[in-house]
Amino acid sequence: MRIDCLTLFPEMFDGPLNHSIIKRASDAGIVQIALTNIRDFSADKHKKVDDKPYGGGPGQVLMCQPVFDCFEHIEKLSGDKGLPILLTPQGQKFSQAMAQQFSLEKRLILIAGRYEGFDERIRTGLNARQVSIGDYVLSGGELAAMVIIDAVVRLLAGALGDEDSAKDESFSELAGGFLEYPQYTRPEVFRDLKVPQVLLSGDHAKIADWRRLQALERTQKWRPDLLEKHQ
Ligand code: ADE
Repeated sequence: MRIDCLTLFPEMFDGPLNHSIIKRASDAGIVQIALTNIRDFSADKHKKVDDKPYGGGPGQVLMCQPVFDCFEHIEKLSGDKGLPILLTPQGQKFSQAMAQQFSLEKRLILIAGRYEGFDERIRTGLNARQVSIGDYVLSGGELAAMVIIDAVVRLLAGALGDEDSAKDESFSELAGGFLEYPQYTRPEVFRDLKVPQVLLSGDHAKIADWRRLQALERTQKWRPDLLEKHQ
């Protein structure tokens, strides 16, 4: 998969893209992530990318010209057309199901905005899907883009090590509509806190039953909305 990210702050991506699973997947050629600075495409002599909103109001609006030119430039860098995604709090809420859909694409083109928003013609002109990572306002789309990249890349075949991927399959996780069951590791007793006896029993059927029940109970208690959605 190829992921292009159009941003005014490519250096913000340094940490997340250069560690752990994403780094490993990039090194293994499972994903190719390309960051492009929108400002490099500004036709303005001061490299301006934003301007005051027509009709008045506070803040600045990201202009069409640098975004369209940047987009048209990166489009040509690969034979795959790509799914353009605009990161905005107005978008459809990102979910595990959406991450799974995105993971089937050959190419994603994430566009991170700043300022008070995008000129509306960016959304309509690029025919981009709008995605939000939650009902709160971030200072820009970069963190949202990183969240999406992380959630998508770990779903690509081979991105997780054997150990992690085996674990993932046996976990129902959010995709199955349930929260995870509780996990424990050594020691058996830590400051009077004991590991549940059933996990030490060696009885795999009993352990599986216990885990299913735990997953159900904690979903009912903490995230009843997930069960409603599932029914
Ligand atoms: N940009 C600003 N806030 C955002 C959000 N919640 N999701 C995606 N992009 C954003």
